[in-house]
Amino acid sequence: MADTGGHGSTAVRTPGGTPGAALLQVEDLTSAYGAVRALDGVTLSAEAGRITAVLGANGAGKTTLLRTVSGLVRCVSGRVTLDGEDITSAPVESMVGRGMAHVPEGRGVIAELTVDENLRVGSLFRGKVARSEFDRIYDLFPRIAERRDQPAHVLSGGERQMLVIGRALLAQPRVLLLDEPSLGLAPRIVAQIFGLLRRLVDAEGLSVLLVEQNARSALSVADVGVVLNLGRVVVTDSARTLMADEDLRHAYLGF
Ligand SMILES: Nc1ncnc2c1ncn2[C@@H]1O[C@H](COP(=O)(O)OP(=O)(O)O)[C@@H](O)[C@H]1O
Ligand SMILES: [Mg+2]
Repeated sequence: MADTGGHGSTAVRTPGGTPGAALLQVEDLTSAYGAVRALDGVTLSAEAGRITAVLGANGAGKTTLLRTVSGLVRCVSGRVTLDGEDITSAPVESMVGRGMAHVPEGRGVIAELTVDENLRVGSLFRGKVARSEFDRIYDLFPRIAERRDQPAHVLSGGERQMLVIGRALLAQPRVLLLDEPSLGLAPRIVAQIFGLLRRLVDAEGLSVLLVEQNARSALSVADVGVVLNLGRVVVTDSARTLMADEDLRHAYLGF
Protein backbone atom coordinates (compact mmCIF):
# COMPACT_ATOMS: atom_id res chain seq x y z
CA MET A 1 0.00 0.00 0.00
CA ALA A 2 2.82 2.40 -0.79
CA ASP A 3 1.06 4.74 -3.17
CA THR A 4 -2.36 5.64 -1.87
CA GLY A 5 -3.00 8.42 -4.33
CA GLY A 6 -2.12 11.21 -1.96
CA HIS A 7 -5.62 12.66 -1.79
CA GLY A 8 -5.47 12.80 1.99
CA SER A 9 -2.73 15.41 2.07
CA THR A 10 -5.28 18.22 1.83
CA ALA A 11 -7.05 17.23 5.06
CA VAL A 12 -7.77 20.24 7.26
CA ARG A 13 -9.39 18.45 10.17
CA THR A 14 -8.75 14.88 11.19
CA PRO A 15 -11.25 13.56 13.71
CA GLY A 16 -10.04 10.10 12.76
CA GLY A 17 -6.45 10.87 13.68
CA THR A 18 -3.36 11.28 11.54
CA PRO A 19 -4.08 11.03 7.81
CA GLY A 20 -2.68 7.77 6.55
CA ALA A 21 -2.74 6.09 9.97
CA ALA A 22 -4.79 2.87 10.10
CA LEU A 23 -7.98 3.79 11.89
CA LEU A 24 -9.92 0.60 11.29
CA GLN A 25 -8.04 -2.65 11.21
CA VAL A 26 -9.45 -6.03 10.26
CA GLU A 27 -7.20 -8.96 11.05
CA ASP A 28 -7.66 -12.51 9.80
CA LEU A 29 -11.43 -12.19 10.03
CA THR A 30 -13.57 -15.27 9.40
CA SER A 31 -17.37 -15.21 9.42
CA ALA A 32 -19.85 -17.92 8.57
CA TYR A 33 -23.57 -18.50 8.18
CA GLY A 34 -23.89 -22.05 9.43
CA ALA A 35 -21.71 -24.10 7.10
CA VAL A 36 -21.25 -21.24 4.60
CA ARG A 37 -17.94 -19.49 5.20
CA ALA A 38 -18.61 -16.00 3.85
CA LEU A 39 -15.32 -14.45 5.03
CA ASP A 40 -12.19 -16.52 5.21
CA GLY A 41 -9.24 -14.87 6.93
CA VAL A 42 -9.69 -11.32 5.68
CA THR A 43 -7.08 -8.73 6.61
CA LEU A 44 -7.36 -5.10 5.59
CA SER A 45 -7.20 -1.61 7.02
CA ALA A 46 -8.93 1.69 6.43
CA GLU A 47 -7.05 4.89 7.07
CA ALA A 48 -8.12 8.36 8.10
CA GLY A 49 -8.50 10.69 5.13
CA ARG A 50 -8.72 7.76 2.71
CA ILE A 51 -11.38 5.94 0.76
CA THR A 52 -10.77 2.20 0.87
CA ALA A 53 -12.81 0.33 -1.72
CA VAL A 54 -13.66 -3.34 -1.20
CA LEU A 55 -14.52 -4.85 -4.56
CA GLY A 56 -15.78 -8.18 -5.73
CA ALA A 57 -18.58 -10.02 -7.45
CA ASN A 58 -21.95 -10.79 -5.94
CA GLY A 59 -21.39 -13.27 -3.10
CA ALA A 60 -17.74 -12.30 -2.55
CA GLY A 61 -18.44 -11.45 1.10
CA LYS A 62 -18.54 -7.64 0.93
CA THR A 63 -21.76 -7.17 2.88
CA THR A 64 -20.69 -9.78 5.42
CA LEU A 65 -17.46 -7.86 5.93
CA LEU A 66 -19.32 -4.65 6.79
CA ARG A 67 -21.83 -6.49 8.94
CA THR A 68 -19.07 -8.19 10.88
CA VAL A 69 -17.11 -4.96 11.33
CA SER A 70 -20.18 -3.19 12.66
CA GLY A 71 -21.10 -6.07 14.99
CA LEU A 72 -24.27 -7.22 13.21
CA VAL A 73 -22.62 -10.55 12.45
CA ARG A 74 -20.34 -12.21 15.02
CA CYS A 75 -17.10 -13.50 13.54
CA VAL A 76 -15.86 -17.04 13.99
CA SER A 77 -12.30 -15.82 14.49
CA GLY A 78 -10.12 -12.81 13.91
CA ARG A 79 -10.10 -9.29 15.22
CA VAL A 80 -11.43 -5.80 14.44
CA THR A 81 -9.81 -2.76 16.00
CA LEU A 82 -10.84 0.89 15.83
CA ASP A 83 -8.09 3.36 16.65
CA GLY A 84 -6.22 0.53 18.34
CA GLU A 85 -9.14 -0.56 20.51
CA ASP A 86 -10.42 -4.11 20.10
CA ILE A 87 -14.10 -3.85 19.09
CA THR A 88 -14.52 -7.43 17.85
CA SER A 89 -17.08 -8.26 20.51
CA ALA A 90 -18.46 -4.77 21.10
CA PRO A 91 -22.25 -4.52 20.98
CA VAL A 92 -23.62 -3.20 17.70
CA GLU A 93 -25.40 -0.35 19.49
CA SER A 94 -22.08 0.92 20.83
CA MET A 95 -20.59 1.41 17.37
CA VAL A 96 -22.04 4.83 16.59
CA GLY A 97 -20.72 6.13 19.89
CA ARG A 98 -17.31 4.75 18.97
CA GLY A 99 -17.36 6.74 15.74
CA MET A 100 -18.52 4.17 13.22
CA ALA A 101 -21.57 4.64 10.99
CA HIS A 102 -22.88 1.91 8.69
CA VAL A 103 -25.05 2.64 5.66
CA PRO A 104 -26.42 -0.77 4.69
CA GLU A 105 -27.46 -1.97 1.24
CA GLY A 106 -30.89 -0.87 0.11
CA ARG A 107 -31.17 2.80 1.15
CA GLY A 108 -33.70 2.26 3.91
CA VAL A 109 -35.69 5.39 4.67
CA ILE A 110 -39.02 5.76 6.43
CA ALA A 111 -41.24 6.44 3.42
CA GLU A 112 -44.07 8.16 5.32
CA LEU A 113 -41.81 10.63 7.10
CA THR A 114 -40.47 13.77 5.48
CA VAL A 115 -36.87 14.08 4.42
CA ASP A 116 -36.21 16.33 7.40
CA GLU A 117 -37.85 13.87 9.80
CA ASN A 118 -35.75 11.07 8.35
CA LEU A 119 -32.62 13.07 9.04
CA ARG A 120 -33.79 13.72 12.58
CA VAL A 121 -34.20 9.99 13.15
CA GLY A 122 -30.47 9.72 12.48
CA SER A 123 -29.71 12.16 15.27
CA LEU A 124 -32.11 10.86 17.93
CA PHE A 125 -29.53 8.96 19.93
CA ARG A 126 -27.33 12.04 20.21
CA GLY A 127 -29.74 14.19 22.21
CA LYS A 128 -29.83 17.79 21.07
CA VAL A 129 -28.21 18.31 17.69
CA ALA A 130 -27.51 21.89 16.63
CA ARG A 131 -29.48 23.28 13.71
CA SER A 132 -26.14 24.03 12.06
CA GLU A 133 -25.40 20.32 11.79
CA PHE A 134 -28.59 19.75 9.79
CA ASP A 135 -27.75 22.81 7.70
CA ARG A 136 -24.37 21.31 6.96
CA ILE A 137 -25.99 18.13 5.61
CA TYR A 138 -28.36 20.23 3.50
CA ASP A 139 -25.39 22.23 2.20
CA LEU A 140 -23.67 19.00 1.20
CA PHE A 141 -26.80 17.73 -0.55
CA PRO A 142 -28.77 20.62 -2.07
CA ARG A 143 -31.15 18.20 -3.79
CA ILE A 144 -32.16 16.89 -0.38
CA ALA A 145 -32.53 20.41 0.96
CA GLU A 146 -35.01 21.24 -1.80
CA ARG A 147 -37.14 18.29 -0.73
CA ARG A 148 -36.80 18.55 3.02
CA ASP A 149 -40.54 18.90 3.67
CA GLN A 150 -41.62 16.22 1.21
CA PRO A 151 -42.29 12.61 2.19
CA ALA A 152 -39.27 10.40 1.59
CA HIS A 153 -41.23 8.16 -0.80
CA VAL A 154 -41.07 10.84 -3.51
CA LEU A 155 -37.27 10.72 -3.59
CA SER A 156 -35.40 9.21 -6.51
CA GLY A 157 -32.89 6.42 -5.82
CA GLY A 158 -30.01 8.88 -5.90
CA GLU A 159 -31.75 11.25 -3.51
CA ARG A 160 -32.48 8.38 -1.14
CA GLN A 161 -28.84 7.43 -1.19
CA MET A 162 -27.90 11.02 -0.38
CA LEU A 163 -30.41 11.03 2.48
CA VAL A 164 -29.08 7.84 4.08
CA ILE A 165 -25.50 9.07 3.75
CA GLY A 166 -26.52 12.43 5.23
CA ARG A 167 -28.27 10.64 8.09
CA ALA A 168 -25.11 8.62 8.80
CA LEU A 169 -22.96 11.77 8.72
CA LEU A 170 -25.11 13.32 11.45
CA ALA A 171 -23.55 10.75 13.75
CA GLN A 172 -20.23 12.50 13.11
CA PRO A 173 -18.45 9.25 12.31
CA ARG A 174 -14.72 8.80 12.01
CA VAL A 175 -15.33 5.70 9.90
CA LEU A 176 -18.17 5.46 7.42
CA LEU A 177 -19.11 2.01 6.09
CA LEU A 178 -20.98 2.20 2.77
CA ASP A 179 -22.57 -0.86 1.20
CA GLU A 180 -23.12 -0.61 -2.58
CA PRO A 181 -24.24 3.03 -2.71
CA SER A 182 -24.07 3.05 -6.52
CA LEU A 183 -26.39 0.07 -7.08
CA GLY A 184 -29.04 0.88 -9.67
CA LEU A 185 -28.13 4.54 -9.99
CA ALA A 186 -27.34 6.43 -13.20
CA PRO A 187 -23.60 6.99 -13.74
CA ARG A 188 -24.04 10.75 -13.46
CA ILE A 189 -25.62 10.41 -10.01
CA VAL A 190 -22.96 7.94 -8.89
CA ALA A 191 -20.25 10.40 -9.97
CA GLN A 192 -21.99 13.14 -8.02
CA ILE A 193 -22.24 11.07 -4.82
CA PHE A 194 -18.68 9.76 -5.08
CA GLY A 195 -17.34 13.25 -5.82
CA LEU A 196 -18.98 14.51 -2.70
CA LEU A 197 -17.55 11.66 -0.64
CA ARG A 198 -14.11 12.50 -1.95
CA ARG A 199 -14.43 16.14 -0.93
CA LEU A 200 -15.69 15.14 2.50
CA VAL A 201 -12.83 12.72 3.06
CA ASP A 202 -10.26 15.27 1.92
CA ALA A 203 -11.72 18.10 3.97
CA GLU A 204 -12.46 16.25 7.19
CA GLY A 205 -10.13 13.29 7.36
CA LEU A 206 -13.04 10.87 7.49
CA SER A 207 -12.24 7.25 6.69
CA VAL A 208 -14.58 5.55 4.23
CA LEU A 209 -14.81 1.80 3.71
CA LEU A 210 -16.72 1.60 0.44
CA VAL A 211 -18.06 -1.77 -0.67
CA GLU A 212 -18.91 -1.96 -4.37
CA GLN A 213 -19.55 -4.37 -7.20
CA ASN A 214 -19.19 -1.32 -9.45
CA ALA A 215 -15.40 -1.50 -9.38
CA ARG A 216 -14.78 1.02 -12.12
CA SER A 217 -16.62 3.84 -10.35
CA ALA A 218 -15.30 2.86 -6.93
CA LEU A 219 -11.67 2.79 -8.09
CA SER A 220 -12.08 6.16 -9.76
CA VAL A 221 -12.74 7.75 -6.36
CA ALA A 222 -10.86 5.45 -3.94
CA ASP A 223 -7.28 5.64 -2.71
CA VAL A 224 -6.88 1.94 -2.02
CA GLY A 225 -8.66 -1.09 -3.41
CA VAL A 226 -9.11 -4.51 -1.82
CA VAL A 227 -10.37 -7.25 -4.12
CA LEU A 228 -12.40 -10.00 -2.47
CA ASN A 229 -13.22 -13.32 -4.05
CA LEU A 230 -15.16 -16.06 -2.26
CA GLY A 231 -14.45 -14.51 1.12
CA ARG A 232 -10.71 -14.05 0.62
CA VAL A 233 -8.56 -11.06 -0.24
CA VAL A 234 -7.06 -11.56 -3.70
CA VAL A 235 -5.05 -8.34 -3.80
CA THR A 236 -4.69 -5.01 -2.00
CA ASP A 237 -3.09 -2.10 -3.80
CA SER A 238 -3.50 1.55 -4.70
CA ALA A 239 -6.63 2.25 -6.71
CA ARG A 240 -4.45 3.55 -9.52
CA THR A 241 -2.47 0.31 -9.77
CA LEU A 242 -5.59 -1.85 -9.67
CA MET A 243 -7.22 0.29 -12.36
CA ALA A 244 -4.21 -0.26 -14.61
CA ASP A 245 -4.15 -4.05 -14.11
CA GLU A 246 -6.10 -5.36 -17.06
CA ASP A 247 -5.80 -9.05 -16.15
CA LEU A 248 -7.07 -8.42 -12.65
CA ARG A 249 -9.91 -6.26 -13.93
CA HIS A 250 -11.01 -8.95 -16.34
CA ALA A 251 -10.66 -11.76 -13.81
CA TYR A 252 -12.33 -10.17 -10.79
CA LEU A 253 -13.68 -6.72 -11.43
CA GLY A 254 -15.92 -7.16 -14.44
CA PHE A 255 -14.56 -4.37 -16.64
N1 LIG B 1 -28.03 -14.49 5.87
C1 LIG B 1 -27.31 -15.39 5.18
N2 LIG B 1 -27.47 -16.72 5.38
C2 LIG B 1 -26.73 -17.62 4.69
N3 LIG B 1 -25.79 -17.30 3.79
C3 LIG B 1 -25.59 -16.01 3.54
C4 LIG B 1 -26.34 -14.98 4.22
N4 LIG B 1 -25.90 -13.77 3.77
C5 LIG B 1 -24.96 -14.04 2.86
N5 LIG B 1 -24.76 -15.36 2.73
C6 LIG B 1 -23.77 -16.01 1.85
O1 LIG B 1 -22.49 -15.51 2.21
C7 LIG B 1 -21.71 -15.27 1.05
C8 LIG B 1 -21.28 -13.81 1.01
O2 LIG B 1 -22.45 -12.99 0.88
P1 LIG B 1 -22.40 -11.43 0.96
O3 LIG B 1 -21.57 -11.02 2.10
O4 LIG B 1 -23.79 -10.94 0.92
O5 LIG B 1 -21.63 -11.05 -0.39
P2 LIG B 1 -21.65 -9.74 -1.28
O6 LIG B 1 -22.13 -8.61 -0.43
O7 LIG B 1 -20.24 -9.59 -1.73
O8 LIG B 1 -22.57 -10.01 -2.43
C9 LIG B 1 -22.56 -15.71 -0.14
O9 LIG B 1 -22.20 -17.03 -0.45
C10 LIG B 1 -23.96 -15.63 0.40
O10 LIG B 1 -24.81 -16.54 -0.27
MG1 LIG C 1 -23.64 -7.23 -0.72
